[in-house]
Amino acid sequence: MQTGRCPKTQARWWVAGLLPALLLLAAVSGCAGRQPNGGALAIKDPHSFSNPAEVAVTHLTLLLDVDFSSRTIRAEASWKIRNLSGARELRLDTRGLTIRRVQLLESGSIREASFELGEERPLLGQPLVVRIEPGTEEVLIAYETTGEADALQWLEPRQTAGRKQPFLFTQSQAILARTWIPCQDTPAVRFTYTAAVEVPEPLTAVMSAGSRGEPRELPGGRKRFLFEMPQAIPSYLMALAVGDLGFKALGERSGVYAEPSLVESAAWEFADTEKMMLACEELFGPYRWGRYDILVLPPSFPFGGMENPRLTFATPTILAGDRSLVALVAHELAHSWSGNLVTNATWDDFWLNEGFTVYLEHRIMERLYGREYDEMLARLGLDELSNTVDELLKDHPADTHLKLDLAGRDPDDGMTDVAYEKGYLFLRMLENAFGRERWDVFLRSYFDRFSFQPMTTEGFLSFLDRELLAKDRALAAGLRIREWVYGPGLPGNLPAVRSAALEKAAAAAGYFAAGVKAGALKTDGWTTHEWLHFLRHLPSPLPAERLADLDEVFSLTTSKNSEILCQWFLVALPGGYRPVMEPLEGFLERVGRRKFLSPLYRELAKTPGGLRRARKIYARARPGYHPVAIGTLDGILGWQD
Ligand code: BES
Ligand code: ZN
Repeated sequence: MQTGRCPKTQARWWVAGLLPALLLLAAVSGCAGRQPNGGALAIKDPHSFSNPAEVAVTHLTLLLDVDFSSRTIRAEASWKIRNLSGARELRLDTRGLTIRRVQLLESGSIREASFELGEERPLLGQPLVVRIEPGTEEVLIAYETTGEADALQWLEPRQTAGRKQPFLFTQSQAILARTWIPCQDTPAVRFTYTAAVEVPEPLTAVMSAGSRGEPRELPGGRKRFLFEMPQAIPSYLMALAVGDLGFKALGERSGVYAEPSLVESAAWEFADTEKMMLACEELFGPYRWGRYDILVLPPSFPFGGMENPRLTFATPTILAGDRSLVALVAHELAHSWSGNLVTNATWDDFWLNEGFTVYLEHRIMERLYGREYDEMLARLGLDELSNTVDELLKDHPADTHLKLDLAGRDPDDGMTDVAYEKGYLFLRMLENAFGRERWDVFLRSYFDRFSFQPMTTEGFLSFLDRELLAKDRALAAGLRIREWVYGPGLPGNLPAVRSAALEKAAAAAGYFAAGVKAGALKTDGWTTHEWLHFLRHLPSPLPAERLADLDEVFSLTTSKNSEILCQWFLVALPGGYRPVMEPLEGFLERVGRRKFLSPLYRELAKTPGGLRRARKIYARARPGYHPVAIGTLDGILGWQD
């Protein structure tokens, strides 16, 4: 326990004069007074030590000093709190943070706080317990991140497109915000924030927030960027990236950030962003976040995309050069409604974020590119879901429920196709049952009614019951709602998802399997999606000479499309087709997207002598992967660090 009381001590922020300026900024914009956490905080989150039902944070003022040489962030976080219960303790989540000092702000004066770091738990970290008084207004914490900060990926210049400057980005979802900010790290708690970020010249800082004014030059070749987030967000949406970034506008309220050499191609790829925003607004109500920008990250980004508010983070592997992978933008944009506006209350309710978002994503894609095109995407999703469900039913049947039970486990375990695709199909089944018109009215009212609030699965079901089911009990009885949400596998009333285009691609795979030469297949006009479906329907393993025939005719090994390339590697590996080996190694060393890496390493490890080879590649590539990807791949390859 560290204690101390000295009412006259001035915190460093006050000396610097920066904190008061930021607090003023927050007050002027009217965000400081918002009280976003009313009501819904009886929620029990097994992945947080925090006590928001007693005392909840409402606004964060954050000063970050980003140091690439030590790979740490020196920081000061000041939390405004609302203490309705007269609580004497504020509990924050932390993991691997070095806490330097904690102070309290009470009626304009500042004093040292008594605090302690509680017992460490795997995954969850340690609670930071701060003694407060009923009159405490704000809790100021000076701290540093450590090498344990799994939210942060620090990149060497050679891991970037420009190869000259380092890069840093954060990934806070699901419970990693606590590794770079002491916070109430539960999606049920929302807060507004103001931030000042100091970085070395000539780098640019961006956050999941609005930027305030031009950056200010500081002594020592450093620069300070100011940010303000007037809409209340949960901690998992806190995001920062620092690198050599350019920008290009896409529309009035949208644009793309990327390393300078990628800005043009990214802007071309995402040209439909503004149309997607309009489509989503027409369907589900106003876009409530001001701007929508996309940040293209270096290829080590472990995910496809991350819906950080106002600033989607995206993998560069969707820059296919033909806009064929922009469903990802539709998806992350759709989170501006499902997830960022109405937010899963705990990670057990993850399907409320992702299933709804996949549903919205399809509605956007259908509007922009037509029903047939979107039906291809839906069918690909269903096929993947069927595989996932078959696998999970063997050992973890409860993980095929929409409502999960992740207590005591890594919330990452819930990140399967079940939340995404079973969630989507459940909503599509409801749409079919009630008709699009009624369903759309329902959805829109859901987003309006619960905006900026957490939502439990049960909360959604009771709203559904009140607004739709209760009005048509006969219809509702046949929908098997409880089976969908609390039961295993895929219910019998699964909507039919059919794509004639994909059926043709599967038929082509059948012809090839029957001996037809690659050159005789009809593939004219195929999109990425038909190619994926075709590759997935080929028999396995194919003899090397048949793989060579495919490769010669379709140049698969040199494909610039990451999805097709990855799928091709997966087809080629079991057949022992050697020409893919070098490109595969290059891919594994360059790309850190977990969705690609996991199946590729798994497949490689299955081939003769493959496990040794996989481990050799992994040993080289591992330092360049994000901690989130490393966590999964260490398991797949039985890696002991
Ligand atoms: N929010 C998710 C990413 C995520 C989920 C990160 C859980 C950490 C924990 C994001 O919206 C997402 O779903 N990304 C997908 C792409 C999408 C098009 C399905 C991905 O990264 O694969
Ligand atoms: Zn998502």
